[in-house]
Amino acid sequence: MTTTGPAELTLIQVSDTHLLPAGELMHGRVDTFALLETVAATVASSTGPVAGILLTGDLADDGSPASYRRLRQIIDPLAATFDAPVVYAMGNHDERLAFRAELLGGAAGAPADHPCDSVHLVDGLRLVALDSTTPGRHDGWLTDAQLAWLADVLATPAPRGTLLIVHHPPLPSPVPTVHLLRLAAAERLADVVAGTDVRMILSGHAHHAGAGALAGIPVWISPALAYDADPLPPDGRLRGLLGGGFSRIDLIDGQFVATAIPLSPTGLVYNNDRAEQVEFIRSLTPQTTPG
Ligand SMILES: [Fe+2]
Ligand SMILES: [Fe+2]
Repeated sequence: MTTTGPAELTLIQVSDTHLLPAGELMHGRVDTFALLETVAATVASSTGPVAGILLTGDLADDGSPASYRRLRQIIDPLAATFDAPVVYAMGNHDERLAFRAELLGGAAGAPADHPCDSVHLVDGLRLVALDSTTPGRHDGWLTDAQLAWLADVLATPAPRGTLLIVHHPPLPSPVPTVHLLRLAAAERLADVVAGTDVRMILSGHAHHAGAGALAGIPVWISPALAYDADPLPPDGRLRGLLGGGFSRIDLIDGQFVATAIPLSPTGLVYNNDRAEQVEFIRSLTPQTTPG
C-alpha cells in the first residue's frame, strides 16, 4: 500500500555525477552512468511526489557535450515521471559552453564565458542556482556582479522562501584539499543572504556529506554520486572510497530538512511495510505532549 509521507514538498539533490562519455570510467573504475541509473530507479520507485530535481555541479567529469547528453538520457525521463523541473548548477569540472548548450537550451545570446546562474519558482519555493566556478580553476568564487544580481533577486521574498544552490560549500572543511577548494571569501555571500528569505544553502563538491551555517542559514553539503572522499582517513592519507550517494530535501511542518541517501548498502537491517511500521510507531506514540 502506498501512503504519502509527512513532507509537503520534496526535492531530490544529486551532486557530483561526474559523467563521462560511454566506455569511460572515473579514476578507471567508477561507472558513474550506472550509479546515476541507480539513483533514477531509486527515485522513480519511491512514493513521491518529487517537486524538483537539483543537479548541483560537477555534472560531467570532462565537461564534454557527450557527457551532458548521457546525463539527460537518464534525467529527462526521470523528470517526466514526476513532471518535475530540473535545476542544473555548474561545478568546477563543468564547461560553460557545453553546459549551456546541452543543459540550458542554449541560453541564446549569453556570452560563452558568462556564469550560468538561474532562478526558478517551484510551488512557491524559489530555487536560485549560482555558478561558483571560474574557468580554468577548481576553487570557488562569486563575482561582484553575481552577488549584486542575487541581492536583487532576493529583494522580493518568495511565498515559501528560497533555497540557494552553490556547488562550492561556503564553509571551511576538515579535509585539506576541500578546504583549499572551498568558496573563497564566503563572507561576501554571507553579507548578501543575511536577513533574506534564504532557508537553506545546498552545496556539493566536497564528496562527503556535511553541514554548517552561513549567516545563520543552514548549509547542506550533499554526498557525491561518484565516490566518497574519506573525511577521516588514516594518518597521512587522502582516500576516495567506492560508494557515494545523493540527498532529499524536504519541507515538513514549515522546516527544511536535508537527508543523505547512501547508494551502496551492503545488506538490509530491516525491510518492513511502511504503512504497518508507521502505524506501529503511532501506536507507541501518545498523541499528547509529554509533561
Ligand atoms: Fe566533484
Ligand atoms: Fe567540484
